[in-house]
Amino acid sequence: MRCLRAVTVGSQTQVGNLTAGAPLPVEAVQANHLALATRNANNLRFGYDVEASVRFVLKHTLPLRGRVLDIGTGKGRFVIPLARHLSKVTTVDISAREQRMARLEATHAGVADRIDFVLADAGALPWPAGSFDAVTSWNVFHHLDDPERVFNELVRVLKPGGKLVLADFSPAGFRIIDTIHAAEGRRHPHPPSRFSHWCAGLRQRGFVVNRFVSCHQEMLVARCPRHGTPEYGQPCPHADTSNHSRTIPSALQFRPIHQRSCTVAAWLPRSISLRPAAFFPRASVSNIN
Ligand SMILES: C[S@@+](CC[C@H](N)C(=O)[O-])C[C@H]1O[C@@H](n2cnc3c(N)ncnc32)[C@H](O)[C@@H]1O
Repeated sequence: MRCLRAVTVGSQTQVGNLTAGAPLPVEAVQANHLALATRNANNLRFGYDVEASVRFVLKHTLPLRGRVLDIGTGKGRFVIPLARHLSKVTTVDISAREQRMARLEATHAGVADRIDFVLADAGALPWPAGSFDAVTSWNVFHHLDDPERVFNELVRVLKPGGKLVLADFSPAGFRIIDTIHAAEGRRHPHPPSRFSHWCAGLRQRGFVVNRFVSCHQEMLVARCPRHGTPEYGQPCPHADTSNHSRTIPSALQFRPIHQRSCTVAAWLPRSISLRPAAFFPRASVSNIN
């Protein structure tokens, strides 16, 4: 059995778990919340509704039981709403800075005591095989240097019969995120969506896979076979090769302008360049508090 490895957090060296850290200053909690709310409001101006995306993913994720692991804590946008539905959830990130922001926001949301923050590389998780009843990941995979390695780790730590949830931006979601980054003067290159690849890999291992797509979000919910998974690369004798996917026909993959007006915006072809900010007034921070 592997142990939690020692990690460096700021100037301290800790063993994995950050929950027992020093209490966070109230001013830092408030400043972090304001910064996150401002960022979410800016995303909304461009048409990406973070809260609606999290709601969509949670709707297809819950209920979850037992030990739950969330990969790629980030600023806690997903694990915090998830923690409201669970008595405990463990979350892993490679960045101490990101996890500190998530812990500040979890404190603001009043759920910090339900979340175990662990600093670790998701490509080398510090738990033995079959440790978790569910593993979730929201908008992380396009950030990973070695997604294949992380994917194998998520499958490894899942218990037989466990649930795996992978969510990331849909092609339309990536287009909005790219626009936001460009407006901020930066570029965040990302690989094209690999959901079909992950679905095929899971089915080959005997998982039952369902796929869901919203305007800006794409996700899969996979159930691990009760008899466990075969070694990587070995086809599962009980593999489910049927297609449970629900995909949007490519003809309908137009550029949505705003999540709440998706049904109308879905008919606007990509070639028509509309600037969302021109249609939706600048959202103030108070709009989303
Ligand atoms: C955009 S954030 C994901 C959003 C996040 N799930 C949320 O709810 O706010 C991507 C995160 O993945 C983390 N990350 C990247 N590579 C990683 C790895 N190998 N192991 C663990 N975390 C990783 C980054 O540090 C970053 O915090």
